[in-house]
Amino acid sequence: MSSKIKILKMRESDISDVLKIYEECNLSRWTYADYLKEIRLVNSINYTAKIAEQIIGFITARLIMSQNNIPTLYQETKEKFKVIEVECEIYNIGVRKFSQRNGVGNSLLFEILKKCKQSNAKKIWLEVRQSNQKAVNFYKKNNFKEKYRRPNFYNNPPDHALVMSLDKF
Ligand SMILES: CC(C)(COP(=O)(O)OP(=O)(O)OC[C@H]1O[C@@H](n2cnc3c(N)ncnc32)[C@H](O)[C@@H]1OP(=O)(O)O)[C@@H](O)C(=O)NCCC(=O)NCCS
Repeated sequence: MSSKIKILKMRESDISDVLKIYEECNLSRWTYADYLKEIRLVNSINYTAKIAEQIIGFITARLIMSQNNIPTLYQETKEKFKVIEVECEIYNIGVRKFSQRNGVGNSLLFEILKKCKQSNAKKIWLEVRQSNQKAVNFYKKNNFKEKYRRPNFYNNPPDHALVMSLDKF
């Protein structure tokens, strides 16, 4: 990968360029307002890949807490709920077509892995269209394993979802 590429925290002023990459990569659309809300969440992790001042890629993920000791979900007290695990969910990643297959995706994912280690996250989850072989290969190359399939999960166009996870990193 070119040393000129920088991975930086996503800022509000980056959102419109990120949404252009959504369009170019034909990813499911988030609105500007969705994104703004997302990057303001304390547990949201968002990075852009930039060459000079041009955004050529992005990644959006969230740290999510799981709890146990739940007699019933309706008895929510401090004593009964205990955080047992932090996990991460990757919502989307995209790289401008002219920059694909150049290590940018790997660099964006690496920042997520760093953040997950710092936060002691145990697992990283994601969901991907089964027909999106480019992305499936990318995740497999990065040691994500297929866990299960959600049949007919997507519309426009219809597709199955593969749920993949990375359990050791
Ligand atoms: C998936 C995506 C983010 C990968 O980003 P990238 O910068 O091109 O990926 P990298 O260059 O870091 O590739 C890392 C590895 O992934 C695999 N990979 C990436 N693109 C691939 C392709 N087109 N075909 C097969 N394997 C591929 C390869 O193993 C590659 O390593 P290698 O080049 O040494 O063989 C990019 O293709 C993309 O933006 N796709 C469109 C958006 C999308 O589908 N996002 C996923 C939504 S869940």
